[in-house]
Amino acid sequence: MPINYLHSLLHRVEDGWDPIPKAYASSYAEFAWNDRSPKIVEDMEIRLGGLAKKRVLDLGGGPGQYSVLFAQRGADVTWHDISREYEAVTRERAAAAGVNLRYSLGYLEEVRHFREQFDLLFCRVCWYYARGDRAFAGLLYSLIKPGGVGYVECPTPAFSQPEGWRKLQYWLNGYLWLKVGHPMPPHGRVAKLLQRHRLSHMTLDYSSSLRDIVVFTKALNPPPNRHSH
Ligand SMILES: C[S@@+](CC[C@H](N)C(=O)[O-])C[C@H]1O[C@@H](n2cnc3c(N)ncnc32)[C@H](O)[C@@H]1O
Repeated sequence: MPINYLHSLLHRVEDGWDPIPKAYASSYAEFAWNDRSPKIVEDMEIRLGGLAKKRVLDLGGGPGQYSVLFAQRGADVTWHDISREYEAVTRERAAAAGVNLRYSLGYLEEVRHFREQFDLLFCRVCWYYARGDRAFAGLLYSLIKPGGVGYVECPTPAFSQPEGWRKLQYWLNGYLWLKVGHPMPPHGRVAKLLQRHRLSHMTLDYSSSLRDIVVFTKALNPPPNRHSH
């Protein structure tokens, strides 16, 4: 946590810092838009009893392929990400699709300043960029309305196959909960951390060893909100 926190103090979006080069943003956007799964969105729609007018937070929304799908089904979507390059791609794609989104630029942890809660917290392939797994689980939970849904899809260390010094990075996070850089959480950790909070439902998709998919519903009577930062 201290190293990543220090990094975030020295690299500020408002000073023009962007970790994503333009060329990478457009090539990932091409891939991600072709690869997007309308089935995930349909599943969320069923769980929420419809998406029309529902507040959705697409955290680490990247090139916006899911933000746009949710908005096309009537949701009121906030896209949040660190990258201006991805914001530009998302704005272009949203305009082409004829939908409006809300945009928020900043580190993942900066969503703790949001004053509202969401019907759906969608966090796909970005959990590992958080500064700490425990705190991030608490933050996600706090941003969901009672009865609202969380979707987390996160690659596992098996996906990353760390070699050399990166094995140490994974060991530090796996055993000491110390994050240096962005190691993927051990298989099962995302679900275990979320289960510490009051939930009414959780579905686990562990069908691939390369990623955990955790979908959960926040209890209707959660304890008073507490941000874990
Ligand atoms: C692999 S992409 C996933 C994008 C999208 N959610 C998807 O499903 O394709 C990871 C995203 O996390 C964003 N990101 C990386 N570090 C971040 C940070 N510290 N705070 C906020 N967003 C971050 C990147 O800009 C990128 O859009």
